Amino acid sequence: MNQLAYDLNKILDDCIAGRLLSDFGRRIYFPKGIIAQSAEAKKSAWAANATIGMAFHQGKPMILSALSENLPYLSEAETVAYAPTAGIEEVRELWQKLLLEKNPSLRRECISLPVVVPGITAGISYIADLFLNKGQRLIMNDPCWDNYNLIFEERREAVLCSVRFLNDTGLDLDAICAAINQEAKTGAVRLILNFPNNPAGYSPTRMEEDVLCDCLKDAAEKGADVLVICDDAYYGLVYEDTIAPESIFCRLSGLHERILAVKADGPTKEDYVWGLRVALVTFGSKGMDGACFNALISKLMGVIRSSVSCSNTPAQFLLLKTFAGEKTPAEKAHYRAILKRRYQAVRRFVEEHNNHHCLKALPFNSGYFMSFACNGIKSEDLRRKLLAEHGIGTVALGGIYLRIAYAALNEDLIAPLLATIFQAAEELATQ
Ligand SMILES: Cc1ncc(COP(=O)(O)O)c(C=O)c1O
Repeated sequence: MNQLAYDLNKILDDCIAGRLLSDFGRRIYFPKGIIAQSAEAKKSAWAANATIGMAFHQGKPMILSALSENLPYLSEAETVAYAPTAGIEEVRELWQKLLLEKNPSLRRECISLPVVVPGITAGISYIADLFLNKGQRLIMNDPCWDNYNLIFEERREAVLCSVRFLNDTGLDLDAICAAINQEAKTGAVRLILNFPNNPAGYSPTRMEEDVLCDCLKDAAEKGADVLVICDDAYYGLVYEDTIAPESIFCRLSGLHERILAVKADGPTKEDYVWGLRVALVTFGSKGMDGACFNALISKLMGVIRSSVSCSNTPAQFLLLKTFAGEKTPAEKAHYRAILKRRYQAVRRFVEEHNNHHCLKALPFNSGYFMSFACNGIKSEDLRRKLLAEHGIGTVALGGIYLRIAYAALNEDLIAPLLATIFQAAEELATQ
């Protein structure tokens, strides 16, 4: 094993992260190579900096005019220069500040500085690299975002322990806690939480969050090491007052020395920048100090350096300008209000038609989606029928679920579209 990896492991072995690292997580390190030496030179090489593989002219990165003319408000360095491996410092600090503002109970000393990754997907994949070995079990929701299967099962060869997180009214806490307690007996619990969730569009109420946190704390108190990945892709898109107001990451990061919470989030959905490909990974644990967080960040930087090397530079600068934009808060509030009205239109329809014999809505209160569980018909048959006969695109998942991305629909389309779906399901059932 490389000496640098060994040194990082030595720091991390004193805390929860060291015990949870995968074999790859133990081997990976951030080298004191080109990037580290170049960062050092950037600060101190006053005569000439001959470290980095970029071409300069009169002190600025060379840039083609077609590019600079199309990005007129970004400088050469903001457009084409490499970004640091862990992301542009200002973006990392700003995101941490925003996290603390959006989640007032979050304690700064319990979290790391966020690390920039090229999208939440990449962030989750890197977390899986660091903490999941072949054959290790990960508890997750059924149905879940289908990319989890690719990331955890196909890439990392982990074993998915799928649990139906939802019953008729909300979280099925008995089922979730039973799965956690079962895993705790093995000495480690690994769990991914995604609230608001894809595909059901559900976020826990304050009471549900209390029970879930108590259960995880109990597992830790009994001696299990607990990893909770918080996929907060849809953070903040909540439409009911009963929903816990902050990310569950806040509670988990201050809950117990044996709990490591890792938050993957970003502006993808929160700030309407799906294709910008900037996201963040933040570690949180009561049992970790600054040295442990820095060592873990070095590990994550090793993962980044060995895969994409660094994230997109102009995207990070565009994001900084977006956050600084005067019109941004009002525009975000406007978009949020539109999404909430779409949610309310779905809710109205579902409440007025809640006794359909073959379509039952899973609990939903947030996010972009809602899903129906199909009874007596296959969701794939319904999806095909809707597409072929009505030109309506939906997503069939797991054989029985039909996901509706209502965030993508104009409000006035929602009731007629749902009526068509109900009618088509009726026709299928009586065929
Ligand atoms: C639950 C969930 N996590 C993560 C993502 C991906 O986010 P990103 O586009 O930033 O990779 C999505 C996107 O659809 C999602 O639904």
